[in-house]
Amino acid sequence: MAVDLLLGLQWGDEGKGKIVDVLTKDYGIIARFQGGPNAGHTLEFDGIKHVLRTIPSGIFHKESMNIIGNGVVIDPVVFVKELEGLDKFGIDYKKTLIVSRKAHVILPTHRLLDAASEASKGKAKIGSTLKGIGPTYMDKTGRNGIRIGDLELANWEEKYRSLADKHEAMIKFYDVAIEYDLNELEKEFFEAVKALKELTFIDSEEYLNTAIKNGTTILAEGAQGSLLDIDFGTYPFVTSSNTTAAGACTGLGIAPNKVKEVYGIFKAYTTRVGSGPFPTELFDETGAKMAKIGNEFGAVTGRPRRCGWLDLVALKYAVQVNGVTQLMMMKGDVLSGFDTLKICTQYKYKGETISHLPYNIEPENVTPIYTEVKGWKEDLTGMTEASQLPKALNDYIDFLEKELEVPIKIVSVGPDRTQTIHR
Ligand code: GDP
Ligand code: IMO
Ligand code: MG
Repeated sequence: MAVDLLLGLQWGDEGKGKIVDVLTKDYGIIARFQGGPNAGHTLEFDGIKHVLRTIPSGIFHKESMNIIGNGVVIDPVVFVKELEGLDKFGIDYKKTLIVSRKAHVILPTHRLLDAASEASKGKAKIGSTLKGIGPTYMDKTGRNGIRIGDLELANWEEKYRSLADKHEAMIKFYDVAIEYDLNELEKEFFEAVKALKELTFIDSEEYLNTAIKNGTTILAEGAQGSLLDIDFGTYPFVTSSNTTAAGACTGLGIAPNKVKEVYGIFKAYTTRVGSGPFPTELFDETGAKMAKIGNEFGAVTGRPRRCGWLDLVALKYAVQVNGVTQLMMMKGDVLSGFDTLKICTQYKYKGETISHLPYNIEPENVTPIYTEVKGWKEDLTGMTEASQLPKALNDYIDFLEKELEVPIKIVSVGPDRTQTIHR
């Protein structure tokens, strides 16, 4: 069988967790391929809300396997807390969750380095979640990292010590005041590593390619979003991994010709958390209204998310870079009650009108050009069929499908599993 990908097309938090949970019944394996505990994927069903960080969003389905691929970075401390959170729901994760030996380990000193780097940047900070993501990927590409498979070796603690010592010297280099007690952090870390080692570690590329041969269906679950991609995002205000489709190949060890559907997921408007340019951002009561109705607070840090109109220039770019074959539009319900809606279709860029995402989208270079469309008043949250959707929403969808040249197959009308309309 082939592998399908599910990717966020904006700046993250599009609703990936919810949709992966909805789709899992059709897949034998759900696999995360990049990112780490900077992700917060929310699932809601039976009146309970779960936020997953490193664990794939298929974990609540007993029949599916969940793989943490080689491209992921794992913080044992966060990961073990996440596992403990599953205990009360009777999830047999020792059976259904397995971890790639080639995934990299986030050390306590990676988190400290993240904090030191951000503090040293002052106003120019990235707005990182401070989970140690950047420093861990730097050690990976610098060929200094510790991998999950190393934890099985007799001498891994020596390797740990020498890397942690090096990190402490680097923290001093930043010349910012970072308070920490490494002994305390290490105590917690080593205990978590012990618990983590009770899970099964595998050569995940072997496992997945065998599964493909055997006809198992696989869904790769992206984290973050295309505009946070290390190559194609709004650099340097990005994360440190490839969040786009190619990242699924390198992050799982699957060949491009094994990928079939690419599900691109986007909010009916746009949000961003952390620093960096955001052309359609709203600073008025309309933005505040979206934030309030959409409950736009980060699932990981609780920070308010910046809100704005849908940006089709950026969305088209993401559809192209990822080769999206099907779209999913989330949070349509949040836009109920706006008289008119704006959709950014082009940018004014250095005096010219352009339709593509330029190198630099800082506010001094880019002004969005909007098309205004009619809004809808109806409450969507109880709707279950496409035939119930109001005309103005169908017109909004038609407009987007024409512009993006990809069908919108799912319209999500609330956070719960059941609030999902298939078209
Ligand atoms: P992810 O990181 O892409 O998994 O998304 P997050 O979980 O960080 O953020 C999405 C938020 O929107 C969560 O609080 C979800 O429960 C919520 N959500 C998802 N889909 C919908 C929807 O269609 N309508 C509304 N109102 N909320 C939704
Ligand atoms: P999910 O998977 C939204 C943002 C941070 C910051 C930048 C770099 O839930 O969609 P990092 O911690 O990676 O060094 O932060 O990226 N960011 C996210 N924003 N959703 C996420 O994940 C994010 N993961 C990182 O806010 O601006
Ligand atoms: Mg999130």
